[in-house]
Amino acid sequence: MAECNSTVVSFVSGKGGVGKTVIASNIGKGLSLLGRKTVLIDLDFGLRNLDIALGVENNIVFDLSDVFSGNKTIKEVMVDSNGLFLVPASQVKTPDEVDFDKFSSVITELKKDFDFILIDCPSALGRAFEEAVSLSDRVCVISNPDKASIRDADKIFSLVGDKGCLIINKIRLDLIKKNKALNVDDILDILRVPLLGIIPFDDDIFLSAERGELVVNQRNSLAGECLCNISKRIFGEIVPLKNFKKVKRYKF
Ligand SMILES: Nc1ncnc2c1ncn2[C@@H]1O[C@H](COP(=O)(O)OP(=O)(O)OP(=O)(O)O)[C@@H](O)[C@H]1O
Ligand SMILES: [Mg+2]
Repeated sequence: MAECNSTVVSFVSGKGGVGKTVIASNIGKGLSLLGRKTVLIDLDFGLRNLDIALGVENNIVFDLSDVFSGNKTIKEVMVDSNGLFLVPASQVKTPDEVDFDKFSSVITELKKDFDFILIDCPSALGRAFEEAVSLSDRVCVISNPDKASIRDADKIFSLVGDKGCLIINKIRLDLIKKNKALNVDDILDILRVPLLGIIPFDDDIFLSAERGELVVNQRNSLAGECLCNISKRIFGEIVPLKNFKKVKRYKF
């Protein structure tokens, strides 16, 4: 595959725990199910989770820090999860103990083999965030519908520029109906950024994670359907947002 055909997408947030890893892993699976060769890179050094999300935590021997230090090649550290590939972060080394100088060449290498390269970032600002953003074609900023999360997302958008698009996760449809939580339009009025997708708060995400499964694979799951739709948008399809008719479509 020619290098220019690959798309690099980062998943970032200001606040922690908003759903970056859940979303990156499910979108990775979604793109893989759409027939696109996809690799996920875990940049959350010291606090890696993507291996658990993909159910391959027992298969990891080496990690990205071994590539950065020159001890292993990218192919030697990569793990196959049913056709979706993972480049794990170190569970031991923190971001400060890793030298990111080789990250750009890692991405160049992966572009030879993959259509989509998805990067799961740590929530903190820092070198991992900066490197991921600078090497990405698109940056998905994840926010929950609470004020603190939205304010932190606003800060992140000011740092990522035109590459940024918003995914609102953990939307509480029950509270919105009672006017007790911000709805999608309220959030867009505050942030004024392109919206890539919305995902409701859904117990299916917790339950499937406990089984080591991805919700995007599940039939009759609202969150799974929303994640599948986001995958299709990243793939290039125009898919209307579910249940929120006033919001304009966003073409990736
Ligand atoms: N839409 C959702 N509905 C219900 N639970 C969710 C949803 N999205 C994520 N979660 C749960 O929220 C928690 C945090 O998710 P996740 O680990 O993906 O966040 P994160 O942004 O990657 O966190 P960190 O900043 O620590 O890397 C997990 O327990 C996950 O199962
Ligand atoms: Mg995470």
